Amino acid sequence: MDLTAFVAAMPKTELHVHLEGTLERELLVRLAERNGVQVPLPEGGFTDLTSFLAQYYPAMRALVTEDDFFELAWAYLVKAASQSVVHAELFFDPQAHTGRGVPFPTVIGGYRRAVVKAQRELGVHADLILCFLRDLTAEHAMSTLMEALPYKDWIVGVGLDSDERGNPPAKFAAVFARARSEGFLLTMHCDIDQPGSIDNIRAALVDVEVDRIDHGTNIVEDPELVDLVRERGIGLTCCPVSNGFVTADMKAVEIAALLRSGVKVTVSSDDPAYFGGYVTENLLALATAADLTPEELVQLQRNALEVSWLAPFRRDALLAALEAYAAGAVTA
Ligand code: HPA
Ligand code: ZN
Repeated sequence: MDLTAFVAAMPKTELHVHLEGTLERELLVRLAERNGVQVPLPEGGFTDLTSFLAQYYPAMRALVTEDDFFELAWAYLVKAASQSVVHAELFFDPQAHTGRGVPFPTVIGGYRRAVVKAQRELGVHADLILCFLRDLTAEHAMSTLMEALPYKDWIVGVGLDSDERGNPPAKFAAVFARARSEGFLLTMHCDIDQPGSIDNIRAALVDVEVDRIDHGTNIVEDPELVDLVRERGIGLTCCPVSNGFVTADMKAVEIAALLRSGVKVTVSSDDPAYFGGYVTENLLALATAADLTPEELVQLQRNALEVSWLAPFRRDALLAALEAYAAGAVTA
């Protein structure tokens, strides 16, 4: 079987992609010129999460108007359609924009317009997940949540990203409890190889009771956590290409071990403009490094739909389409 063609055409679900991390250089330069702002161009060469974030946030200054946010999300969704993505759950970082004077409605208005247009014109379904920046205060996160409430219908859940060091889940327990009571689903980054990774993952699961974990592969070090994640059916949104940039390797061995032990592992692209791989490239990189079978690649996509935040009717239709694709490809 031609694995590249099989993965390329497989109907795919992406659960961990930051819209601001899809800002490709060409669009960045065009928007910066249009807005008359000086923006440092990302140079790469990151060695960890902190050094990546140091290039990531300054580049966002190119994003100013509602049209800019629309164009960013639209460019991602066009790319996603070209990779046979049928559903995407999209992180966005409002505080990275409101903190420099861009109003919340400008950000979400642009993103929402792209989501609606993609459903209509590309057949790609997408939902937005609001991420709080964990290196800012819990009060700032709470006021951002309050600002988001009028837009509840456009936001499926909340997440937590940015620098994990010194910013454990407990800091945001009250914000997440309030978000839950407002009807949002909950996820949280538990980044790779952080100081206190295991304690933070346990806190996210036991204290905050998240519905999903972004990254989180460090659970391999703790069999009890693996059991807990498996028993609860918690999804891990793994990003192998990203891992290879912010740590020494892509953690293919760990990801494959968790997948093979029955954990609902999924594969996504994280910040594809910075790490150079969209979801197809992430799946292929993992498949090559961990010797995944076509059936395991289908399982990753089955997991993604099962732990997605889609309405059941939509999820079941996409699961049926995935099974039909897999059956057809195997007999072809
Ligand atoms: N981790 C933390 N913050 C981020 C990430 C990530 O993977 N991507 C963009 N912001
Ligand atoms: Zn991420």
